[in-house]
Amino acid sequence: MPTLKQGFAALEPVLQRHGHQAHGLIEVLNAAQQLYGHLSEPLLRHIARQLRLPFSRVQGTASFYHLFRFAPQARHSCLVCTGTACHVQGAAQLLAELRAAPLAELSVELGSVRCIGTCSGAPLVVVDGAVWNHVDANAVLARLRELER
Ligand code: FES
Repeated sequence: MPTLKQGFAALEPVLQRHGHQAHGLIEVLNAAQQLYGHLSEPLLRHIARQLRLPFSRVQGTASFYHLFRFAPQARHSCLVCTGTACHVQGAAQLLAELRAAPLAELSVELGSVRCIGTCSGAPLVVVDGAVWNHVDANAVLARLRELER
């Protein structure tokens, strides 16, 4: 993946393929995200200049589509199950406590998922695809810190 320090030269072939024309905006945004991992403001400004579009149009178009991200992807994902069994066992509190925790420091993206079918482990989280059963916020945070070691 090219770094931002290298500028946006890696995007140039894509811009050329679309003749630096506005009609290529979505494909250029998609290629830019694949190349750089996310659409930073400097990258969006570069695209706007190259396609001769107002920055607001480029930013507005990118933010309309959920597939685009504007910050680096976290190293870990943590999904709290909010299905009925997990809810009864305290999933809402677990989710609230994790939302209040400094997860960005651990590079964790927090989300929720409906019942994954292993209700006997409630409350549970799915971290990087692995199910952690019978957890509370402290246990989740401790295990996430271990992943970072
Ligand atoms: S409700 Fe959480 S696994 Fe079923």
